[in-house]
Amino acid sequence: MPDVIRVTRTLPWREAAKESFELRPMLLDQFRHEDLRRKHVLDVGTGEGRLAFVAANLGARVIGVDLDHMKLMHARSYAGVRDLRHAQFVWGDVEKDAYSTWSPVPFDLVVSNLCMSPAIVYRSAHALRPGGKMILCCHHADHWRETGRPSRWSFGEEGMGDLLEENALEPEFVGVDSVTVTFEALREVELYLRDRVVRKWVEDGRWEHLADAFARGERRLTEAYLVVKARRLAHPAPAE
Ligand SMILES: C[S@@+](CC[C@H](N)C(=O)[O-])C[C@H]1O[C@@H](n2cnc3c(N)ncnc32)[C@H](O)[C@@H]1O
Repeated sequence: MPDVIRVTRTLPWREAAKESFELRPMLLDQFRHEDLRRKHVLDVGTGEGRLAFVAANLGARVIGVDLDHMKLMHARSYAGVRDLRHAQFVWGDVEKDAYSTWSPVPFDLVVSNLCMSPAIVYRSAHALRPGGKMILCCHHADHWRETGRPSRWSFGEEGMGDLLEENALEPEFVGVDSVTVTFEALREVELYLRDRVVRKWVEDGRWEHLADAFARGERRLTEAYLVVKARRLAHPAPAE
């Protein structure tokens, strides 16, 4: 496992809000030094294709897969508007479908932003050619830790390290990009987060946990992302 690179910042919530939907710079950095011209790339959980477009702009032929028809429709329209002919968007379940459904040829690169699970790592490893790479960004175990419960799909460095090893993926880069978002009052958290998140936290008790922390004067929320680049080893990944 390489040394873990940590980038930590503290931002008032209005500043943090300006960049909260942006792709993490640490993730985008992983695309530098990769020659993606004519490379065969899969973007799992592509959404509206943000990461797929990064790869397509670097010359890759990209397939973006998602379960959400509406997001796929937007991704196809953006591809049309930007005249990106080498980006294709297809419906599929990246946790259940065999990745050979979308391409009989192994991929050079599998990328993923905020769509991660052990099943995805397993399937990605199997779909990569030996020497092919996976670049991913997911929630880190510290994400929203002030709510008392880590996100279900978050990973710590060690857990992700084990998962990569089990799947014959050798990490080349491991980074944790965290922002401590600061607030003056709890109602600002409602403005900062989307309604859907607040409603869910009220229902599952996380909001109460956060309110207690605020009452103690701890008026912050950690947003933490784990960024990984890993290379598929020459020996075969476990059979699907
Ligand atoms: C947080 S969004 C991220 C979207 C995109 N990667 C981005 O950076 O904008 C997670 C996406 O994963 C998709 N997703 C979740 N589970 C999935 C699955 N099993 N198969 C395919 N897509 C899935 C969701 O529909 C959603 O578009």
